[in-house]
Amino acid sequence: MASEDPLVSSGRALFGTPTLLGGQAAKAGLSCESCHINGRGNPHFLLSGVSAGPGTADVTNSFFSAARGNGRFDPVAIPDLAGPGKVSRDAQAKALEPFIRNLVVEEFGGEEPTPAVLDALAAYVRAIGRCDPDTQRGRNVGDQLRSIDDAMTGAALMTERGDRAGVRLSIAAMRHQLGLIAERYTERRADLLSASRALQMIGERDTAGLPVLLRWKDDFDKGLAQGLRRDEGRSLYDRARLQRALARQ
Ligand code: HEC
Repeated sequence: MASEDPLVSSGRALFGTPTLLGGQAAKAGLSCESCHINGRGNPHFLLSGVSAGPGTADVTNSFFSAARGNGRFDPVAIPDLAGPGKVSRDAQAKALEPFIRNLVVEEFGGEEPTPAVLDALAAYVRAIGRCDPDTQRGRNVGDQLRSIDDAMTGAALMTERGDRAGVRLSIAAMRHQLGLIAERYTERRADLLSASRALQMIGERDTAGLPVLLRWKDDFDKGLAQGLRRDEGRSLYDRARLQRALARQ
């Protein structure tokens, strides 16, 4: 959405990024989004040692963080984050920021998030609204490409705020989405991998800055992204193909 607050887009991208959580969660490819799909719950989330049954998780588990593990196995249902919830969503009260900071650092053993990163995550959580539970639909490549757009918006915003860590996380967000797309496009894996490598190099060069990243994004939008959209019917975003592939496993 062009009219969306860039802070919200940026937060949405970070919400889907395992690197934010660090530690075991990142190794397992888990992000906030794994438990709270589109900011909601996840009735299918099931991780041995963390869940009691589908849709539950123990976020004070030592699997995620040795520091915070409370030594008890006490999973609860993963909540829908559309407010109001236990934690006040009020922008003035600013209760979400420290809550999310503790989640990242204490529960998941991630690196200390910068103020700009926390700001973005809290803005996204506050923007999550209720929706009709019957409007579920399958994921398509457009969703993943939109997440890359969100992360690019985030990279620009973090650059504006002089937040290098935020830029790096936004680049990690884009690379994670490319990886998710690669799982569904066997024939495009090499192209996706090289796009991801190019991003990695941009992220590692501290002096690269936004213009280089914008150029990468422009090339991606005009090239690879178009091809992905065109070939979606031959990818595993196609339901019938996905089902056949899963049945073969
Ligand atoms: C492993 C699954 C899992 C992951 C990953 C996860 N959460 Fe949660 N989240 C939960 C569970 C379970 C609860 C409920 C905890 C409770 O009630 O004690 C929760 C609660 C919350 C709440 C409080 C909701 C309320 O009632 O006000 C917020 C906000 C939240 N999570 C945001 C996040 C953010 C942001 C991230 C990423 C940094 C994240 N979560 C990652 C499972 C998860």
